[in-house]
Amino acid sequence: MERNIIVLDTTLRDGEQVPGAKLNVQQKIEFAQQLKRLNVDIIEAGFPASSAGDFQAVQEIARTVGDSVSITALARAVKGDIDAVYESIKLAQNPLIHIVLGTSNIHVEKKFNRSKDAVLQMGVDAVKYAKTLLPQVQYSTEDASRSDFEYLWKTIEAVVKAGATMINVPDTVGYAVPDEFGELIRKINERLKNLNDQVILSVHCHNDLGLATANTLSAVRNGAQKVECTINGLGERAGNTSLEEVVMGLKVRENHFKASTNVQLKELIRTSRLLTHLTGLDVQVNKAITGENAFAHSSGIHQDGLLKDKQVYEIMSPEEVGADSMELILTARSGRHAFKNAVEKLGFETGEGEDFEALFEKFLLLADAKKEVYDHDVFYLVTQHRTHEEVSSHLYELDSFQVVTNDLYPTATVKLKKGSETFRDSMVGDGPIDALYSAIKALVGLDVQLKDYKINSLSRGKEAIGRVNIRIEYQGKIYSGRAMDTDIIKASALAFLNGINAVLLDAGHDSQAQAQAPVSAR
Ligand code: KIV
Ligand code: ZN
Repeated sequence: MERNIIVLDTTLRDGEQVPGAKLNVQQKIEFAQQLKRLNVDIIEAGFPASSAGDFQAVQEIARTVGDSVSITALARAVKGDIDAVYESIKLAQNPLIHIVLGTSNIHVEKKFNRSKDAVLQMGVDAVKYAKTLLPQVQYSTEDASRSDFEYLWKTIEAVVKAGATMINVPDTVGYAVPDEFGELIRKINERLKNLNDQVILSVHCHNDLGLATANTLSAVRNGAQKVECTINGLGERAGNTSLEEVVMGLKVRENHFKASTNVQLKELIRTSRLLTHLTGLDVQVNKAITGENAFAHSSGIHQDGLLKDKQVYEIMSPEEVGADSMELILTARSGRHAFKNAVEKLGFETGEGEDFEALFEKFLLLADAKKEVYDHDVFYLVTQHRTHEEVSSHLYELDSFQVVTNDLYPTATVKLKKGSETFRDSMVGDGPIDALYSAIKALVGLDVQLKDYKINSLSRGKEAIGRVNIRIEYQGKIYSGRAMDTDIIKASALAFLNGINAVLLDAGHDSQAQAQAPVSAR
């Protein structure tokens, strides 16, 4: 009989820990709504005790998408963290408290500096406390794959007796290999079934050796009933298990695994692109399932085989995961109806009245500039519109600019706005972007260092949208900024200002806006 595997997406918690990938509250809600369309079973929305912004984001996600998808958030095994999780997720229909505590010798001795029994007791007390708040409690035995098995089991047994309803076995440092990790899960599963067969066994792998997907699938084969993943495998260091790889692995090799998920496969590509758009972190082109080249065949022999029968070289179709080749090209004359159709085809609700009109106005501006508007452009237009950052009166906005480039004195003149004030300056630089950024730096009076500047073309066509990602350093901390425009110089200015505004928000210049801080502002 086929087993249903529960999918927990932790992109907004474990994935978002990546430096420079911080999202603001609105962006997190937008992404959580897409996860709901993807039909994951559980969304891990954040780590509410870590900051007021994270708390607010988890709360908003629980309120806006927690009606049909289970919401969880992370707590260390301490009362304050558990309270923060409870308070932020309690509005969801099916809330779940997630507690983490290490079980490996290195964690017990180096991190906690307590005896094994004392650490175990901390876990039991935490679960007992969480159970007074909610019925569903997951316990993660951090660094399980490097733990002494008998102590690991003793912990699992004790927290299950204390009321944990899910046991999550993490390969926290990506140390495990598939047959060994599968064997660990088989042993735990066997004992857990005897102890309490209602408790769900889950796995959470990291990709330090490039084995996260293989380890997760091996665990499923050996009895894991739940998998924890992130979109695009986003996560600290080499990342987490990639959701799209595990889900498609189970789907394509259904006969082998005899297991399936509830994930809407056609939403996979859209979810991946939305994440790239929101975080500014690109997916490697040859990444399985979601990479740009994942379904591209370039060798003559392959193309010839494909033309004869797709199955010759294709184990899954691009359409199956939502990489639909059918595309409508819009122009400024397409009208509201065609535009509405294109937006809805991409899976977004168009909304009514003023909001739709505002979006349509943006489309017309883009169509005027670009002449031909592709699905890709519509996708970015909508997500940009939805995740628009509120501009606080304490943050800078670009008013106008002029950049002149030549091989002698590239020069930029920039006018910025901040509330009702305006500022103007001109600078010469080594190149046009250097001149532009020098002028902005002089105007805002912050000595930020540009660490990274990246520009990509987002779509096709003569006037493709350019996306600029920058990273700047200020007082030893890294901030990122990003922006898009058909004018790449303007996108460069906007991205730099976005990063500078993040610095200002972080420095507490605007405590009210802090709650909706843009990228890297927390
Ligand atoms: O990697 C890890 O151990 C974690 C736990 C919180 C599940 O992220
Ligand atoms: Zn993790």
